[in-house]
Amino acid sequence: MGLRKNPNNMSQKIFIKTFGCQMNEYDSNRIFDSVKKIGFDKTEHYEDANCYLLNTCHIRDKAKEKVYHEIGRVKKKFRSKKKPLVIIAGCVAQAENEEMLKREPYIDLVIGPQSYHKINDTILNHIEKNKKKEETEFDATSKFEYLSKIKNEAGKVSSFLTIQEGCDKFCHFCVVPYTRGPEYSRPFNQILDEAKYLADNGAKEIILLGQNVNAYNNEGYRLSDLILSIEKLTEIKRVRYTTSHPKDMTKDLLEVYKISKKLTPLVHLPVQSGSNKILKLMNRKHTIEEYLSTFDKLKEINSRIEFSSDFIIGYPGEEDQDFEDTYNLIKRIKFINSFSFIFSPRPGTVAENLDLIEKKISVERLEKIQTILFENQIQMNKSLEDKVLDVLVENLTEDKSKAFGRSEYMTPVIFNGKKSDIGKIVQVRIKDYSRYTLFGEIITNLNQKVA
Ligand code: SAM
Ligand code: SF4
Ligand code: F3S
Repeated sequence: MGLRKNPNNMSQKIFIKTFGCQMNEYDSNRIFDSVKKIGFDKTEHYEDANCYLLNTCHIRDKAKEKVYHEIGRVKKKFRSKKKPLVIIAGCVAQAENEEMLKREPYIDLVIGPQSYHKINDTILNHIEKNKKKEETEFDATSKFEYLSKIKNEAGKVSSFLTIQEGCDKFCHFCVVPYTRGPEYSRPFNQILDEAKYLADNGAKEIILLGQNVNAYNNEGYRLSDLILSIEKLTEIKRVRYTTSHPKDMTKDLLEVYKISKKLTPLVHLPVQSGSNKILKLMNRKHTIEEYLSTFDKLKEINSRIEFSSDFIIGYPGEEDQDFEDTYNLIKRIKFINSFSFIFSPRPGTVAENLDLIEKKISVERLEKIQTILFENQIQMNKSLEDKVLDVLVENLTEDKSKAFGRSEYMTPVIFNGKKSDIGKIVQVRIKDYSRYTLFGEIITNLNQKVA
């Protein structure tokens, strides 16, 4: 690590563009932590870069084609300049591997999500020998051993920390088991060390990440153990985790909600559909009754807990009644902060070649779902008018005139804060709202705190 020198003396600038989930964001930050060791600085302007890295997502739509279009744009921009080193990372890289080098000669390196421990050597080999290369082995152990030796320099008030990678669930619609490999849980102490380093360097909130974060299991340590250990760090004010699978909402995890002081009250628990028939067709491995039982138990433990979710609309076989079931579930649970998508057939998955339902019907259903999710969110935000919320201040707004933070439910809050508020939890009285954002005024006198 860091032993080999970059033979180019000139300054190297990397531009990293990230698509997809928070795990890709974490990876992009860690890739930068790594390439810094071989002399790269970051640039926010891709036309200034001599290394262009695209961290890709394969979850929906024409993911692969989007990558080639993006490379087409880079090509154009650099037509009259020296070509940058072009690296494709992430889930499309994993799925397509050497095909990408064949189809688009402008691409130099293809590196999958579990090969990032090789990124420095791969780049240096390319600089020295001008050799194209594809690295797409699944080797999560080496990835995280390597990354744990390089400090996580995210330096953000709210920092991501990947604890688990990959998936063994094989939902019939999903590419993740193929792009991220089998389920792997990082060693408990390796994670705690990273959490301590983040806390010592300004993090106040840690968001534990995994494709199935609540399946975390390393030598008997579970997600519940990690939450309780991390919240002992005094600098850390809030702990969150995402994304969970309903089947892994184990008793110990539910119990944590009784004793934890810092776990936030928003549970992101994707349900995908409200119909048992569709859940079975999707191979989701749980029923709506089990999901509702988890919801009821958590509500009983703490009535302030709210749920958010992901929904797939128009899965093959979804009939009017199945859709009604999803709609009614949303009404029953009053999900907030949720995501909904029309089913998108993915290459290599069981659902790839199933008969699609009519596009028009899917679009209509999606609109209905999004309308009710919108209403839930607006109602939630409206109910907060004139209330005082605890807001963890993350930054100033772009024009620096206000401060930006988040409520315990992840909702962005903009208010008249200052730079010195960054990293603190402050009390803000909510004065106005939109669907996505709350607007308020900071108060010093805390008499009317929301319980
Ligand atoms: N592991 C999580 C779980 O079990 O719910 C989800 C991870 S996936 C990265 C994020 C979301 O993408 C899923 O919850 C699902 O709603 C959506 N998604 C995955 N595959 C999809 C597909 N083929 N079409 C539409 N949406 C999809
Ligand atoms: Fe995909 Fe299902 Fe695994 Fe989630 S649990 S990552 S939806 S296969
Ligand atoms: Fe996309 Fe891969 Fe995440 S497919 S959602 S970047 S795990």
